[in-house]
Amino acid sequence: MSSENSSEHFHPIDIKILDSKSDLVFNIFNRVQDANEERFVLYASKDPRYRDKVRELLASSDFMEELFIHEDDLTLYFEQATNSLRDFVVNSSATPEKKMEKVYDLSRDITHQFFEANSSPEILRGSDQVVELMEKCLESNELGFHGLTKIIEKDYYTYTHSINVGLYCMTFALKIGMPADEVHELGLGGMLHDVGKSKIPLEIINKKGPLSEEEFEVIKNHTESGEKVLKGMGCYGDKVIQMVGQHHEKYAGKGYHRGLVGNDIALFARICKLTDVYDALTTRRSYKKALKTIEALTIMKTKMGQDFDPKLLNAFIRLMGPKA
Ligand SMILES: [Fe+2]
Ligand SMILES: [Fe+2]
Repeated sequence: MSSENSSEHFHPIDIKILDSKSDLVFNIFNRVQDANEERFVLYASKDPRYRDKVRELLASSDFMEELFIHEDDLTLYFEQATNSLRDFVVNSSATPEKKMEKVYDLSRDITHQFFEANSSPEILRGSDQVVELMEKCLESNELGFHGLTKIIEKDYYTYTHSINVGLYCMTFALKIGMPADEVHELGLGGMLHDVGKSKIPLEIINKKGPLSEEEFEVIKNHTESGEKVLKGMGCYGDKVIQMVGQHHEKYAGKGYHRGLVGNDIALFARICKLTDVYDALTTRRSYKKALKTIEALTIMKTKMGQDFDPKLLNAFIRLMGPKA
């Protein structure tokens, strides 16, 4: 049994993300290494009596120390970090690329937490708010696919893959002129599309090497279990749930888990299918290299063409051009 003070109960945080003008709603700890044990000691208190000291700390820009919060405060931290980041995204004169980098970092922290430690609905809801921030970064239309590819993580992890798919879905939707509410839902569905993988053992998810047939069968459950997770939460619309449940359907049929064909597959799921495959091809795994954009698009068109809605595939190829 681990003690309450052991490292698994503490979560590293990015202090620079927090707004120096807001009050702390959680305690902050630092890590002390004694002869043979690691301890976490209170560093900044949420107690209002220490408000000025804490603000000074948050405002210091050359801060290097690694800081932590207790796992029970994660939701509060994600909330406060998202609010501080919203202020930065809306009011700062930083470039859309700089803003998106910060939003990407926070999203990675949230999805990593969800997939590898705490798959609770409270953590998952954090993704609703980061999708909003992503939209704000994409609104200016300066980033495009080209800008995004510089920011996104090139090593494949389920949690970064989820963010990448969300971002690609939103960018594609913006480029083809979809209305704002649909851009938002596509972003959310993209972020959540593999949510069912949180129910699969981490040994399979993080396996270094290709999956066996049995392991692949286990992975295939994630579309159905993902649908159940989101329906159970009761706060997601049909389109988002369809993206989660149908993103492995193939346009010519024989996909999973329903074996739908053509336009019986929901439009949002057909878009997700494109961005899902594109991100899988252009990221690196221990057993395969990351393909360049042009290589990935060529494979999608020539070897996997039947899997996609042909109109959407052509639009995607057109829009993924180097400066699009
Ligand atoms: Fe999937
Ligand atoms: Fe995926």
